[in-house]
Amino acid sequence: MSHATISQSISIVHPISLSHGKNAEVWDTTGKRYIDFVGGIGVLNLGHCHPGVVEAIREQATKLTHYAFNAVPHAPYLQLMERLSAFIPVSYPVSGMLTNSGAEAAENALKIVRGATGRTVVIAFDGAFHGRTLATLNLNGKVAPYKQKVGVLPGPVYHLPYPSADNGVTCAEALKAMDRLFSVEIDVSDVACFIIEPVQGEGGFLALDIEFAQALRRFCDTNHILLIADEIQSGFGRTGQRFAFSRLGIEPDLILLGKSIAGGVPLGAVVGRKPLLDNLPKGGLGGTYSGNPIACAGALATLDAMTDAHLKTWGSQQEEAITRRYHAWRTQGLCAYLGRMTGVGAMRGIELVNADGTPASKQLTQLLELARDAGLLLMPSGKSRHIIRLLAPLTIEPAVLEEGLDILEACLRQLA
Ligand SMILES: Cc1ncc(COP(=O)(O)O)c(C=O)c1O
Repeated sequence: MSHATISQSISIVHPISLSHGKNAEVWDTTGKRYIDFVGGIGVLNLGHCHPGVVEAIREQATKLTHYAFNAVPHAPYLQLMERLSAFIPVSYPVSGMLTNSGAEAAENALKIVRGATGRTVVIAFDGAFHGRTLATLNLNGKVAPYKQKVGVLPGPVYHLPYPSADNGVTCAEALKAMDRLFSVEIDVSDVACFIIEPVQGEGGFLALDIEFAQALRRFCDTNHILLIADEIQSGFGRTGQRFAFSRLGIEPDLILLGKSIAGGVPLGAVVGRKPLLDNLPKGGLGGTYSGNPIACAGALATLDAMTDAHLKTWGSQQEEAITRRYHAWRTQGLCAYLGRMTGVGAMRGIELVNADGTPASKQLTQLLELARDAGLLLMPSGKSRHIIRLLAPLTIEPAVLEEGLDILEACLRQLA
């Protein structure tokens, strides 16, 4: 199908047209089948057309397709907020608001922290990704392509190194950079919040250093700074738990949700400490479509399916299969470009590097094409676009997962 009517500024990883999908498989309009290791970029932890989600959407569509919650509240929104506040694993009472997307959740969180603290400075991290709207662009720790040609971005935002065993940046290095920031660039008392991904997505599936996360939490408490965890990609079971921040042993003040929250229907949320959410004037939060009843129905069905036992089993099965195959490839010397495996749980990246350790971005582009031709959809990540991000549905059938990994193995073998 022609792309002539589509903005050429939308980058398309796989130039095919999809027709339909079922769990971890999709078919294009020519009838070709693909195993889906992209999962709509982390939206489909429950797979394509999960029966519970489909049924909930179908039923809701016969009852109420839309109402602007600001005008008249509706039951699905209220039910979902109750369910979500019980699902967020923190010790404090949770309140929140719904949005249409992840970026919109991040935008609203920035407003919420301004309202709660009276401060404006935000600290984000190298390699971060929080969205493509004007304010979220500036939070991203990557210039190209996001910040190019858009002029001055809303600030003030400063970036620190993101410490992780996956990128070799240590906790001590990140803390040193923090010391420098507050002695050279800005007064700590002007800082409203830190925003951080517990596992970076776009950045290359890097798991945050636990010692740093705990030091950051203490620093925020001492200096009355809010801590926002962006769980848009790492949440809803991706790492084997409800949310990846639990692995860090900390509680964020605000949590951003999106992607797999509603089984494929557009929805996002900002949730967190109740008193923080109430500081903007009435009407300061909301939106015509935010918390649409059909999206809320999809999310309620998603929560029904995401029991802790399921999340643990799904996460560990996928983690076990990927790590087993990866270590076998390393032992066999399958591919000269095979670098580190990054991430945690079922949120795994596989780096491609040249002999001198530099990113093998060209080979990753080649791999994406080879795999697509062979019936496997993959997605790149990392600043240099050299890390394969594996985001197969958590519900993928074990045989389909192995089939996808077989294709990946065959394609890695062919890399020149
Ligand atoms: C961690 C993270 N935050 C925010 C976003 C933005 O979400 P959306 O594309 O729904 O605006 C993304 C999307 O990839 C993401 O991975």
